[in-house]
Amino acid sequence: MTYQVIIPAAGQGKRMGAGKNKLLLELNGIPVLVHTLKVFEADEACTGIILAIHPQDEVEFRELIKKYKLTKVNGLVLGGIERQHSIFNALKTVTGNGLILVHDAARPFIQKEHIHRLTESAAKTGAAIMGVPAKDTMKRAKNGVVEATVERSSLWAVQTPQAFRIPLLIKAYEKAEKDCFLGTDDASLVERSGHPVTIVEGDYDNIKITTPEDLYFAEAILKKRNN
Ligand code: CTP
Ligand code: MG
Repeated sequence: MTYQVIIPAAGQGKRMGAGKNKLLLELNGIPVLVHTLKVFEADEACTGIILAIHPQDEVEFRELIKKYKLTKVNGLVLGGIERQHSIFNALKTVTGNGLILVHDAARPFIQKEHIHRLTESAAKTGAAIMGVPAKDTMKRAKNGVVEATVERSSLWAVQTPQAFRIPLLIKAYEKAEKDCFLGTDDASLVERSGHPVTIVEGDYDNIKITTPEDLYFAEAILKKRNN
């Protein structure tokens, strides 16, 4: 099942505190952004990559695309204030009835096998997301006081990629804009449009590089993979 992928990369990496976009930080001498793009570049099922970028990164990102021969990047769009705006800007350039994936540039450890499990599911159901079962005990609290212990067996930590039929995701984004709804992932927009979303079990290694300690986990994952 072929697909196109939108990769939001237009954040500022404030929680990383690196003084620049965290996607430019290097792991094994290669920027995080390039690690992520290389996975899709190497996947024969991926037909095109649309990258949402911040204007201040444009020159550097273009140079990286050239240097690492990332030939599948066929769209560069400017991002917006929130991740959802960045993705909507990219989605406006997408047409057709096939599958569109959304994958955070900050998740460089995604693997082809998992992408394919996700696209197989989305091809059948229209909407599928990647996640892992919650490991910690989960509690809901208000003002620092526990209200309830939430049944863990039904909880998932949700990641990207998330995969959708193109018209379904476009409709969900248009409805969210009309309703001024801001979600924390793409599936939440599709959920409120009434379409069921399937969860595909992914990989605990598919971490999002967010804060400085994530760089230690990233080094450990790379070391494991290189052995
Ligand atoms: N992103 C984006 N447009 C935004 C905000 C985020 O395209 N306006 C992208 C980021 O570049 C990242 C992904 O969405 O690849 C997930 O966002 P996050 O991990 O929060 O990254 P940042 O927003 O860069 O980090 P922070 O929130 O710490 O500033
Ligand atoms: Mg952010």
